[in-house]
Amino acid sequence: MIQVLFVCLGNICRSPITEGIFKDLVREKGLEAIIQCDSAGTAAYHIGSLADKRMRKVALAQGIILTHCARQFSDKDFNDYNYILAMDQSNYEHIRKKGLRGDGSYLPEQQLYLYRMFDPKRGSSVNVPDPYYEEIAAFEEVCEIVKRSGIAFLDFIIKKHNLTI
Ligand code: 4NP
Repeated sequence: MIQVLFVCLGNICRSPITEGIFKDLVREKGLEAIIQCDSAGTAAYHIGSLADKRMRKVALAQGIILTHCARQFSDKDFNDYNYILAMDQSNYEHIRKKGLRGDGSYLPEQQLYLYRMFDPKRGSSVNVPDPYYEEIAAFEEVCEIVKRSGIAFLDFIIKKHNLTI
């Protein structure tokens, strides 16, 4: 089983929609017995909460029901997940610092990625923008970014693990 974790700050906007969309993409390829995913936040503010209602509304418009309850990223996740995808550079740095070994290297190799590096239309931006203090259009934009990135990230996993679809 390949385990994937999407991480943002609050785990109520960007990472739960990414989890919901990615699960759909995995199901479309018939890979749900091989690839599993979850999401988490680096912060503790919203532990136990459903995704933000604006995010749930935008997801529902795409036929996706978000049921995830927010949880905080923990050291155990380094052992439980093959891939950890950070939604922005701040989340990435937070996770990288938590995963540092005594000699300053990150454990283990090739586990942590900036999610938007997979976005074919990312331009110069490597962050999935935080929509929390924005209008509904920002949530819709997040949805598009994470879907494009998810399609490319799934392709990357399929190739890397030689999965047959
Ligand atoms: P997320 O968005 O990291 O995409 O879940 C946020 C959610 C909550 C807050 C900030 C960003 N907050 O400050 O409470």
